[in-house]
This record gives sequence, C-alpha cells and structure tokens, in this order.
Amino acid sequence: MVHLKFLTVCGLAALSSLAAALPRPSCPDRLCMQTRAYITMHQVQKELGHLLSPGSHIYSPDDQAFQELTLRYQAFMPPRIQLVVQVGKEEDVSTVISYADRNSVEFYVVNRGHGLPVSQGTFNGIQIDVGLLRNITIGKDGTYGLFQGGTFDQQVIDYLWERGYVTTTGSCACVGMLGPGLGGGHGRLQNKYGLISDNMLKINAVLANGTAITVSADSHPDLFWAMQGAGHNFAAVTSFELKIYPRGPDTWYYKTYIFTEDKLEKLFELLNVVDEGKNQTSHMLNFGSYFWNPAFDANKPVIQWDFTYIGPQSNVEARLVPFNNLGPVNVTDGNIPYPEILAATGTGLDDPLCAPGINHVVGTAGTQLCNITTQRQIFDHFVEKSAAYPGLAGTFLVMESYGVHGVVTKDPASSAFPMRDDYLLFQVSVNYASNSSLDAAAVQWARETVDMWNQGQPTRRPTTYVNYGLGDESLESIYGYEPWRMEKLLRLKKTYDPYNKFRYYVPLIRDV
Ligand SMILES: Cc1cc2nc3c(=O)[nH]c(=O)nc-3n(C[C@H](O)[C@H](O)[C@H](O)COP(=O)(O)OP(=O)(O)OC[C@H]3O[C@@H](n4cnc5c(N)ncnc54)[C@H](O)[C@@H]3O)c2cc1C
Ligand SMILES: *[C@@H]1O[C@H](CO)[C@@H](O)[C@H](O)[C@H]1NC(C)=O
Ligand SMILES: *[C@@H]1O[C@H](CO)[C@@H](O)[C@H](O)[C@H]1NC(C)=O
Ligand SMILES: *[C@@H]1O[C@H](CO)[C@@H](O)[C@H](O)[C@H]1NC(C)=O
Ligand SMILES: *[C@@H]1O[C@H](CO)[C@@H](O)[C@H](O)[C@H]1NC(C)=O
Ligand SMILES: *[C@@H]1O[C@H](CO)[C@@H](O)[C@H](O)[C@H]1NC(C)=O
Ligand SMILES: *[C@@H]1O[C@H](CO)[C@@H](O)[C@H](O)[C@H]1NC(C)=O
Repeated sequence: MVHLKFLTVCGLAALSSLAAALPRPSCPDRLCMQTRAYITMHQVQKELGHLLSPGSHIYSPDDQAFQELTLRYQAFMPPRIQLVVQVGKEEDVSTVISYADRNSVEFYVVNRGHGLPVSQGTFNGIQIDVGLLRNITIGKDGTYGLFQGGTFDQQVIDYLWERGYVTTTGSCACVGMLGPGLGGGHGRLQNKYGLISDNMLKINAVLANGTAITVSADSHPDLFWAMQGAGHNFAAVTSFELKIYPRGPDTWYYKTYIFTEDKLEKLFELLNVVDEGKNQTSHMLNFGSYFWNPAFDANKPVIQWDFTYIGPQSNVEARLVPFNNLGPVNVTDGNIPYPEILAATGTGLDDPLCAPGINHVVGTAGTQLCNITTQRQIFDHFVEKSAAYPGLAGTFLVMESYGVHGVVTKDPASSAFPMRDDYLLFQVSVNYASNSSLDAAAVQWARETVDMWNQGQPTRRPTTYVNYGLGDESLESIYGYEPWRMEKLLRLKKTYDPYNKFRYYVPLIRDV
C-alpha cells in the first residue's frame, strides 16, 4: 500500500488519457488530491505488476494472449479493453480495483466472455480477468462447495459428478457460473433446486472501493439480497459458497427431434400438455429452436426439440410417444451420464452455440404457455426476414422449458430476482459477422420477435431476463415492476457503489 500511495502522489505526466470524466473515488488518506488524468497503460502495467501475486499476468494489445483473453462471444458493441489483468489469487482483485480507483481508470470483471448486453460497449479500461480463479472445494459435510469466481459450467459439472454431486449451473458448457448466477441463472436442475442464485450461501466480494467483504444472510444481508438477481451492478466476486446435492441417477436420457415446419402447431399443442401449464414437476425438461438446416428443409427453417429426463429412458418413454408419432425427420437419443448431456444436446464446449466472435442481437421474453398463433407468426416472420436479409440467416430462436418447481417455491421477495412466474424463457438471437449495414435490420428483427411474444400474452407485462436481453429494455421489465424493487436496489447502490463503478452490465443507473 505504501508503494501505491507514493506512486499516486508522484504521478508522472504522460501522453494519452484513459481516465473517465466521471466521479472521482474517495481519498481516505487525503494525499490523492488529484487523480492521474494522463496515466498511460504502459505505466499501469509497470506499477500494478509489482503489486500483484506471482501467478498474475498483465497483457497489453501487443501480447498474443491479449487477443485470446479479449475474444468475446458477443461482437456487437463490445467493451474497449486497454489492458488485461489476469489475477493469480483472489486477493489481487482488491488490489486491482483499489489501484484503478486511485488512478481514475475504469475496470470490468470478465470471466468466460459470454456477456451479451450493449451497455458493455460503453466500457473503456482494464479488464480484470478472473479466469485463473478456478478452484473448487467441497464442504466437509457435502452440502455445499466453495467455488472461485472464474469457475464455469462444464468444469463445475465434471468436478462435482466425479465426486458424487451436482449443483445448479447454466445449461451451456462454455458459460461462467457467476455471469448467469448474479442475475439468477437458469439451467437443467432448476426444477429440482431452483436458480443458481437461489443456492448461494455466501459470496466473497470486492466492493467498488476495493474493500473485500463477506456477503451472506448474516453479513450484509441487504447486499446479499441484491446480488441474487442484480449482482453484476454491485461487486466483483472472488469466490462463493453454493449448495450441492447428491448426484442422483447414473444416467440421464435425452432425445432430440427435428421437425419440418408443417408440424409446428401440433408440436406446440403437445408441448403445452407436457409442460403441464405452469407446474412441471416431472424432472423432464425440454427446449427447442428454430434455425435453418438445408439438410432437412431447403425452403424453410426447421424446428428442433430436445427432451432431457433426469433418470432412465424407461421412466419417460411413454410420454414421448406422441412426439414420435408426429413424424420427425430426424431423431437422436441416448442414456448417458449428466456431464455428457451438454455436448449431446448441442450445448457443449465445441458446439457452434458456444463459438465466439460474431454479432448476436438478442431479445427475450418470458411467458407461461406457448401461444401457438404467436409461435406460427414468429416462424413466418423468421422466413420473411431471412429472405429480406440473407446476411442474417444464421439467426436462431431458443425456447426453454426447464420446469419451475424449484423456482416458484421460493419467496419472490427474498431476492432481487424478480420473475419467478415466467415459466418459459424465450430468446431470439440475430446472428451475423459484424457488418454495420445490417445492424438496424437485426435490431428490428429482434424487437419485432419480442413484441410478438408479448402480444401473445395480452394479460401479462413484458419481462426481460437480465442475462438474455440486449439491455435496452425498460429497467422495470428487467429488475421488476413492483416499485419497491428498483427503490431498494437504488438505495443499496448508493451505499455500496456510490460512484457507479459497476455500470457496464445492464446498469441500474443509466443516465451517466
Ligand atoms: C451460449 C450461451 C449460453 C447461455 N446459457 C445460459 C443458461 O443456460 N442459463 C442462463 O441463465 N444464462 C445463460 N446464458 C446467458 C449468460 O448468463 C450470460 O451471457 C452471462 O453473462 C455469461 O457469463 P460469462 O461468465 O460466460 O460471461 P462474462 O462476459 O465473462 O461475464 C458477464 C458479466 O458477468 C459479471 N461477472 C462474471 N464473473 C464475475 C465475477 N467473478 N465477479 C463479478 N462479476 C462477474 C461481469 O459483469 C461480466 O461482465 C447464456 C449465454 C450464452 C452466450
Ligand atoms: C487453488 O488451490 C491450490 C491448493 O490449495 C493452491 O495451491 C492454489 O494457489 C489455488 N489457486 C488459486 C487461484 O487460488
Ligand atoms: C404444483 O405441484 C406441487 C407438487 O406436486 C403441488 O403441491 C402444487 O399444488 C401444484 N401447484 C399448482 C398450481 O398446480
Ligand atoms: C440425425 O440422426 C442421426 C442418428 O440418430 C444422428 O447421428 C445425426 O447427427 C442427426 N442429424 C442431425 C443434423 O441432427
Ligand atoms: C454487409 O451487408 C451488406 C448488406 O447485406 C452486404 O451487401 C455487404 O456485402 C456486407 N459486407 C460484408 C463485408 O460482408
Ligand atoms: C395469442 O396471441 C394472440 C395475438 O397474437 C392473442 O390475440 C391471443 O389472445 C393470445 N392467446 C392467449 C391464450 O393468450
Ligand atoms: C468501502 O465501501 C463500503 C461500503 O460503502 C464502506 O462501508 C467502507 O467503509 C469503504 N471502505 C473504505 C476504505 O473507504
């Protein structure tokens, strides 16, 4: 710390400016009367290097690793990264944030780089890469694990399964635990155990001023409430305790169908029955998509639907007979251990769904049932848009029905996650290689799709799952319509992040 103060006071004049013209951090020692408005990244690299633990690395754009570490899933409005600080130990996160504060440099925590919202595009500064913080420790009594802030889905699933456990994660192998988890976190075990955030017991966090604290039901409970749903806005997480559960059946059953579009209406009729409206407690989950696959239909997109059952085929076969009878053009199935389910259902590390580097103009809606008229309307719209904009034909729609028993049985007021009565989760992702002449059409396609989903449920207000939207939706649709929710979040924001340092992922405060 002494070293840091010295450097701050004697800040050398330099050429290029990075400092944002935003509120200055507090200065408890009163020595930093002015911030170093002209600090260069070269200086930062030199100074910060001495302060970090030996396993840390600092990369500038000239380094090869920089390209890899800043490669993102979302290429539409990406953050502008000047320097990557890859932290080697949890303690380093606090060091970097304190340093950044003292020098008026912005910071942004990144793990697996799958964040989608356009607010990221306003960032210019240091990427704090937590990807090396991947340790997992199972608690003594086997009811919880301690996970570091850089853990990710496939890693967690593999690690726990080998040791006889499972926990709540997202569904895609490539995605981090906390990107989803700080905003809820939907996945294949939610019907049994709820969201990722519902299973958090303790969060080791670093606040915007660099102070490391423990956040739980007993320690800063107000912040604990906020970080279970609006967490991206409040702190960096170095590690967290999450409930874990006995792993259950040795194999899960999956069955993937591909249907041509003439089956659309009958398919959704059947799905509405399988989903039992709003109370799917059967541990059979399903999700599906619309996308182009000329191997099966050259003239129209196809409809793929995946069923996953937590247990053996024999338990669930009869329920799938109506789907067999519908006349799919292709069927794939198998009984396999849970960790293999991800790749088997198109959500594995090597699947196109996880691939980085292109634009994804997304939109999302939550509903309680599939409106079949709407599903047809959206399909036809997909066909029209693909014809009008061939450059956007890589678009897909994802429709998820994971079951909600574990989600709806939790008190909605107990966390900042506001949308427990959305039973089905829909997302449109308009995909294309970066090309600004297509941006307006992409945004329009996504918006129109979302509007149709919402018009299909005239008695409900639009909702936006924070991790699935573009981030330009209304704050109430994201963080909740009950006025007390935004009021509470903004109050906590004043307490824990008064200078709005955590504002690049669907910010609660927009007018900066
Ligand atoms: C292919 C794909 C599949 C997806 N599947 C699911 C799914 O099954 N379920 C679901 O709920 N969501 C899913 N999502 C959405 C997902 O929740 C978000 O995109 C999420 O932000 C990705 O997290 P990340 O770590 O991969 O990305 P990053 O870009 O690294 O992280 C996103 C943001 O989360 C915050 N963050 C991450 N780690 C930390 C940390 N340690 N401390 C503080 N803040 C942190 C930061 O603000 C960061 O910018 C999916 C997204 C994609 C692209
Ligand atoms: C992970 O745990 C090992 C063993 O306890 C330890 O040596 C290592 O430093 C830890 N890594 C991090 C990133 O904390
Ligand atoms: C949902 O299922 C649970 C458990 O089977 C049952 O207790 C509950 O009453 C059901 N709720 C509705 C709305 O059907
Ligand atoms: C079609 O089914 C076969 C056999 O089940 C499978 O190997 C193949 O991958 C499927 N094709 C597609 C495009 O899903
Ligand atoms: C960008 O999109 C436009 C409109 O579809 C197309 O004409 C042009 O070739 C594209 N540019 C590139 C570089 O692909
Ligand atoms: C389905 O959507 C249409 C609009 O597309 C709407 O008029 C109708 O009321 C919806 N049906 C239900 C059951 O909500
Ligand atoms: C950091 O912020 C927290 C929350 O606002 C506050 O309680 C704490 O005193 C601050 N620490 C310092 C060193 O300013």
